Amino acid sequence: MKKILVMGGAGYIGSHTVKHLAQEGYPCVVADNLVYGHREAVPESVPFEKADLAVPSSLDALFAKYDFEAVVHFAAYTYVGESVTDPQKYYQNNVAGTLNLLAAMKKRGVNKIVFSSTCATYGEPQYTPMDEKHPQNPINPYGRSKLMIEQIFADYARAYGLRYAALRYFNAAGAAADGSIGESHNPETHLIPLVLQAIKGERDCIKIFGDDYPTPDGTCLRDYIHVEDLATAHRLALEKLDRFSGCMNLGTGVKTSVKDIIAAAEKVTGKKCPVRLAPRRAGDPAELYAAAHGPAETVLGWKPQYMQIEDIIATAWKWEQNKRY
Ligand code: UFG
Repeated sequence: MKKILVMGGAGYIGSHTVKHLAQEGYPCVVADNLVYGHREAVPESVPFEKADLAVPSSLDALFAKYDFEAVVHFAAYTYVGESVTDPQKYYQNNVAGTLNLLAAMKKRGVNKIVFSSTCATYGEPQYTPMDEKHPQNPINPYGRSKLMIEQIFADYARAYGLRYAALRYFNAAGAAADGSIGESHNPETHLIPLVLQAIKGERDCIKIFGDDYPTPDGTCLRDYIHVEDLATAHRLALEKLDRFSGCMNLGTGVKTSVKDIIAAAEKVTGKKCPVRLAPRRAGDPAELYAAAHGPAETVLGWKPQYMQIEDIIATAWKWEQNKRY
């Protein structure tokens, strides 16, 4: 039986997708360079290969060893701030690395790919909620690297018949409901784990980056989407690639402020979160949230299961208390 290659399958969203695909009976192979990924995040039952997008020979070896039906591609650097100070790293790994992957796929006649894109490809919102027709003007090299890849896919689709689904996530959050895997970034920059670590006393406090935004409570609004809902969407996209090829948003359409997150985390944990007000962080739009009922629902039949922020945070809290890596 042909396998699904999950590139970057030891990372946060990749590992949850591997877990879901394995549960649904898909034979997967995980490849990861383990720069940011965690070997422990990949189930024992799933073959693991150390491979690097920067090394075409490691990709050729992978494609020679297994017969792949499709690729799910998560392998990318994702720190927005670092992409501004070190764009070479981002274009080299994210864009050139993806070209190496596409070349290896093309050589072996593998023409299906599901890809981690991002709402960062839109840049500063011109309107909200954001649908797929929103103009794409990313404001940092990270967002631009992801947009370039979407454009490369479109060209490969026209020229070589590539079938692709570029999934533009809003804010990925939460952990596996069973507590077995979760988010573990080093350094951690994301709001929910930082709030939970402040509650645990591992950090002095959470800094609220600005409370003078034009939003109801003055803090930024985001659309938090549970990582297991993202995993399901990847599987559905994979199953529909014969009928759908293109880009789509993955969000809930629910907007949640920084202060809402802190309040919900306090409710879930029953503990106070030490908070400090800090200046705005450069490049943070006041609000970013997806239009509900878009193509992810109408084309893939996807419906996020986690619609309450407390439920998302409860899974993150379960993980945060018993992290394995
Ligand atoms: N925030 C704080 N304090 C912190 C960390 C974050 O107030 O210590 C705020 C941010 O200003 C923002 C919100 O919490 O308003 C969420 O911030 P995150 O860093 O958790 O997430 P972002 O919205 O910045 O980033 C996410 C993805 C990126 C993607 C981006 C698109 O993590 O990969 O959305 O804009 F590029």
